[in-house]
Amino acid sequence: MPFYHKLGKIPPKRHTQFRKPDGSLYAEQLFGTIGFDGMYSNIYHEYRPTQVKEIKKQYNVAPKIARANNMESLRLKGFNVKPEKDYLSSRKTVLTNSDCSIILAAPQESLKDYFYKNTDADELIFIHKGSGKLRTFLGNLDFKYGDYLLVPRGIIYQIDFDTEDNRLFIVESRRPIYTPKRYRNWFGQLLEHSPYCERDIRKPQELESHDEKGEFLVKVKKRDEIFEMVYATHPFDVVGYDGYNFPYAFSIHDFEPITGRIHQPPPVHQTFETDAMVICSFVPRLYDYHPDSIPAPYNHSNIDSDEVLYYVDGDFMSRNDIEAGQITLHPAGIPHGPHPGAAERSIGKTETEELAVMVDTFKPLQVTEDGLKLSDGTYYQSWLEE
Ligand SMILES: [Fe+2]
Repeated sequence: MPFYHKLGKIPPKRHTQFRKPDGSLYAEQLFGTIGFDGMYSNIYHEYRPTQVKEIKKQYNVAPKIARANNMESLRLKGFNVKPEKDYLSSRKTVLTNSDCSIILAAPQESLKDYFYKNTDADELIFIHKGSGKLRTFLGNLDFKYGDYLLVPRGIIYQIDFDTEDNRLFIVESRRPIYTPKRYRNWFGQLLEHSPYCERDIRKPQELESHDEKGEFLVKVKKRDEIFEMVYATHPFDVVGYDGYNFPYAFSIHDFEPITGRIHQPPPVHQTFETDAMVICSFVPRLYDYHPDSIPAPYNHSNIDSDEVLYYVDGDFMSRNDIEAGQITLHPAGIPHGPHPGAAERSIGKTETEELAVMVDTFKPLQVTEDGLKLSDGTYYQSWLEE
């Protein structure tokens, strides 16, 4: 996150002696991205974070591709993903390319038996249903309906859920996820025309500092494989850190919509970006106020990006027969637009209650077996007039 945060105790000067009450040294770790060029934090552990006892297992979790090259607009019934007890096994990759994966999950149990770390992807976890606490070695974040949790690569975490009824929409991005560059000044501060600002971003305030030795299982994901690594010290043994690289939360309900006299294009909804995709939030807002405006979007060709929409709540104005939890995929190369009747239906409406997350990827998405199972098979014909 492009602003400074400090949590717990740290020495006044970096890379200097920082001692425990018993006189021994805390173990410093530089936790950085993009070599030494990207955002980083300086972390102080009770113990050296390098104490691997054993690598027990290594297994492949790459999604099985059903359609490598897809030209069919798809509607995926996301709530048909079956709830599963285990957090990692509950995550089903439905669409994927070399930059990112779109994952749906309905985990029923908190992740308590092991720790998880994704080494090559930032994870953006959108909470559609459920509440709880994301617990990380850089501090904890409470979450509820509508929250985006941004977990940068390399963060070791567990996740606690308050109940069994949870629905998550997860974007796993192999490129770092940032706030949109055009909303930042040259110091990184979010500008006045940004739809949200630093006050809306929740930073970790609670740090668990476990001074424990033993056997701690961390499931480490690297290049679509899980390595089960046993560490000799508790992964949450951090007493303090400072820097720019830490997990944070942002609620979709804190996104302030940008509206206009005529239909506003998708970039006004942009919330996050990488150099391989954009992530947008469609939130309840007033419609366009030109006397002849058509609030529904025009037909459009995303010639060079695939468009994924995840429907969260409210009526989605441009679509017929869309329910919460569904994903539509509009593939690059062919136009799509409002369903028959939707443009007329939208005229005269003054506001919308729609809530949705959109991911536009610059490379085409492949459809996985888990994804294709959710498809109704008929969506691509839904623009035909009767
Ligand atoms: Fe679109």
